[in-house]
Amino acid sequence: MSASHLSRLRVRDLRTYVEADVELGPGLTVVAGPNGAGKTNLLEAAYLACTGRSFRQASDQDLVRRGAEAGHVGATVQTAVGPSVFSVGVHPGDRRRLRVDGNPVDGLLEHPGRPRMSVFLPDRMVLVKGGPALRRSHLDGLLGVLRPSSGPLRRGFHEALRQRNALLSSLKARGTDVGRAAEELAPWDRTLAGAAAALTTARRETAEAIKPAVNARAAQLGLSGELEIAYRPRSAEDPDEVVAALAERHAGDLDRGFTHHGPHRDDLAVRRDGRLITRFGSQGEQRLSLLALLLGEADVIEEAAGQRPVLLLDDVMSELDADRRARLVAVIRERGQALVTVTEASHVPGADDPEVGAIDVTPGSAQATRVASERTPEAAA
Ligand SMILES: Nc1ncnc2c1ncn2[C@@H]1O[C@H](COP(=O)(O)OP(=O)(O)OP(=O)(O)O)[C@@H](O)[C@H]1O
Ligand SMILES: [Mg+2]
Repeated sequence: MSASHLSRLRVRDLRTYVEADVELGPGLTVVAGPNGAGKTNLLEAAYLACTGRSFRQASDQDLVRRGAEAGHVGATVQTAVGPSVFSVGVHPGDRRRLRVDGNPVDGLLEHPGRPRMSVFLPDRMVLVKGGPALRRSHLDGLLGVLRPSSGPLRRGFHEALRQRNALLSSLKARGTDVGRAAEELAPWDRTLAGAAAALTTARRETAEAIKPAVNARAAQLGLSGELEIAYRPRSAEDPDEVVAALAERHAGDLDRGFTHHGPHRDDLAVRRDGRLITRFGSQGEQRLSLLALLLGEADVIEEAAGQRPVLLLDDVMSELDADRRARLVAVIRERGQALVTVTEASHVPGADDPEVGAIDVTPGSAQATRVASERTPEAAA
């Protein structure tokens, strides 16, 4: 199992950072500092360097430090075949400049040597707390990672849906009667049904693939009861059945002007002892469920891609009791590289151990990381 890890991260003029240069060990590194000090920003920079993207969907303007014209991040990555430097230059109004070992590349995501990253951000809690749309796209994202060739399958479905909806809306606008509409819809029903059935199968297989790992991680994290991930498809895996179901709903679809049957209404149910965690879980239980989901997925990705994802865990300890914190740290430490942010290092049991790295981003703290203060960003330049 190759475990690429970041050994160094250099940041210039991104977010709060005028300049930061940190070394990272292959295991756990605790990033500590008060609110607003730049902990999440540091994780964001690590992610940006290795993917070319911000995990907060930030614009280039947002990313570049206020008062600077351009920003840059470079990560030295220890891969199975030696070290490589992944870097990203951010120039608002211009394209991001992506490089591997100094050579320009079109994308980092496709680069074979890039480290995989699994990210926990507090706002990902909407995955367990929020509506089904996010879980669908999360499941599709996972499908894309586990089966990179599934891109056409996912796009094919959305394209077929878009075209059928466009037709429905035009039929509706023209006041077409159901009989005539059914004739015009028939070929689109077929196309959509084929794509829908294939996507449903792929989603079911993806959900099934992560189920055991998620369950195992939940138990390790001390989530009492059985955590169950269940794919809840809205349509069949047999194209003929989907065609029939679409045909049955022609009148309703025509009435609304869009398709209301199919995988675009699927959900992924997360239950603990049979009860939906979304509705019945406590804060800590929801957090543990999300962690179990992300860690279980990371396990499956590791197995499928032959590469262990680096964990970026932002503000993961809050809402967890001492026992769950200790369990989480134990799980993280036996996995590989992880960057964990906390407001107090003492929130991480074992933070003082010599194998655990520490980065203090407290403004003015004496260490390799220099952090610009919010009020006078130029002062530290
Ligand atoms: N482009 C930018 N230029 C300068 N400062 C920025 C920029 N973007 C964000 N910031 C500042 O970064 C700070 C937030 O940093 P960050 O989110 O990393 O904090 P944090 O240490 O994670 O805090 P918390 O503990 O509250 O999560 C805010 O004060 C924000 O104003
Ligand atoms: Mg933060």
